[in-house]
Amino acid sequence: MKIINVVGARPNFMKIAPLLRAYQAHPGLEPLLVHTGQHYDRDMSDRFFDELGIPPPDMHLGIGSGTHAEQVGRTMIEFEKVVREHRPDWVVVVGDVNATCACAITAKKERVKLAHVEAGLRSFDMTMPEEINRLVTDRLSDLLFTPDAIADANLRREGVPEDRIKQVGNIMIDTLIRHRARAAALDLHALAASNLADPAGAGQLPRLQDGGYTVLTLHRPSNVDDGAVLQRLAEFFALEVARDMPVLWPLHPRTRKRLDDLGLAAQLREAPGLVLLNPLGYLEMLRLNLGARVMFTDSGGLQEECCVLGTPCLTLRANTERPITLVEHGGLSVLVGNDVARIRGAYHDARGMARKPVQPPLWDGHTAERIAAALQGEAQNY
Ligand code: UD1
Repeated sequence: MKIINVVGARPNFMKIAPLLRAYQAHPGLEPLLVHTGQHYDRDMSDRFFDELGIPPPDMHLGIGSGTHAEQVGRTMIEFEKVVREHRPDWVVVVGDVNATCACAITAKKERVKLAHVEAGLRSFDMTMPEEINRLVTDRLSDLLFTPDAIADANLRREGVPEDRIKQVGNIMIDTLIRHRARAAALDLHALAASNLADPAGAGQLPRLQDGGYTVLTLHRPSNVDDGAVLQRLAEFFALEVARDMPVLWPLHPRTRKRLDDLGLAAQLREAPGLVLLNPLGYLEMLRLNLGARVMFTDSGGLQEECCVLGTPCLTLRANTERPITLVEHGGLSVLVGNDVARIRGAYHDARGMARKPVQPPLWDGHTAERIAAALQGEAQNY
């Protein structure tokens, strides 16, 4: 049974790596890998293939940057050619990026069966492009692999038939468990020094020790596209948090460009305790998370990783499609939006909290095996 697996952007790579490995236990499954190329540079894409042991893609669509319509439209045009040439039995998409939605629509129009890994997540915020991608993809999917019972309930409420919903756990945690020891062995200071966004600042690197620094990541349009919002956040982290404890801030390309446009980059480089970094690899980010006192982030994936590692996580969003991290995390994972007064209060609470690792049901490192076995089960019907 031929299965085309799709990746497009950074958060997809850690989800596809364990799945490609799990297929190997099923000789009846013939997987192919398509990279749409939504993320394309070494920092955002290639290094993850190397680190996570993902084989080179069988096909690369070279889509690149653009507006949403450009990315989705170009992906559909190119992916349709791939589907027509290879005539797969299934297409497997992961997550909620533009590649996910574009390839889901194309697969269904070509009458190919569709499976979605990480199905059922809902922020109920239709201003988020990812929410639109999730809704469209789930509505079209024949098999919906969910991470938790809240996702199952969302799908049931939308009328998805019971036999399509398969709760399998969180596939990103497969990758986390597999690579945790390798990440823990990385040297913190060397990691920071070799990833400085401004290598000239190496001399001013603050002393870094486990439990004695914070990590910040921002890339959502709601935090970085409005100059006034981004400036307020940047000044708060530079002038308040970084003076209390070092802030390690790996810059997403979108955020870096906005800081440059606003003329803020030079000022931030001078702020004591604030360490601007290039985008990090998977192992490096995991290393930082393992030792962070507090994580500030607007990434859904980091929110989940913090839950399992026990890092107090302040999510700079008004809502989340991953509420299980809030419930399961017993209050250590908090939604703080982008209001500085609220973040300040939550930071002062969080900095004194002990780590509290929590493992939701089935977030056990075996999610990919469950998915591969379910697809193998489908293969029996051919
Ligand atoms: C995308 C996903 C988001 C995910 C995020 C993780 C969608 C709708 N959004 O958002 O869900 O959390 O990836 O990173 O799919 N760029 C580079 N190099 C790259 C890729 C992008 O420099 O390899 C720059 C481009 O200038 C681009 C900008 O980053 O304009 C944003 O990239 P884009 O793919 O449009 O969306 P993200 O904000 O990364």
